Amino acid sequence: MTDQWEPKILAFLCNWCSYAGADLAGTARIQYPPNIRVIRVPCSGRINPLFILKALQSGIDGVLVSGCHPGDCHYLSGNYIGRRKSATLKRFLEYLGFEEGRVQFSWVSAAEGGKFSQVVGEVVQDIKKLGPAQRFVKKEAQGSQGSRVQVNSIKKLGPSNP
Ligand code: FES
Repeated sequence: MTDQWEPKILAFLCNWCSYAGADLAGTARIQYPPNIRVIRVPCSGRINPLFILKALQSGIDGVLVSGCHPGDCHYLSGNYIGRRKSATLKRFLEYLGFEEGRVQFSWVSAAEGGKFSQVVGEVVQDIKKLGPAQRFVKKEAQGSQGSRVQVNSIKKLGPSNP
């Protein structure tokens, strides 16, 4: 691992809270690391664990799932379902040999641009400590010059019928 290595982190953000929180961070000019690529989803409960597995397989080093605070989900219990899916997937990934912390879950509201920045900073630091993801990364995702992520393959992850 070189000093220049920067982790690629994919963030699944719910449209109503966390995405708006990220937007607020941007409009308020709150700094956060540029390591994340965002996929906006209708609700954190909409995320299929296969999206996360596909991301890790494509060369993403870490995944953040973020939704509305408990009681604030626009679909009532979607965030609880999302958290449950995420917790189950994390245990499954650990069983497969992934390090703890590659997949993280958080609550960020539309008014928490500062918290969004803080969460992203913490996730980036955690993934930097873990180093590049090695498990299940497809050979073609590793590229010729160390560029391991196929962004186009990640773009295909978004829900087709939200
Ligand atoms: S609408 Fe935000 S988590 Fe459900």
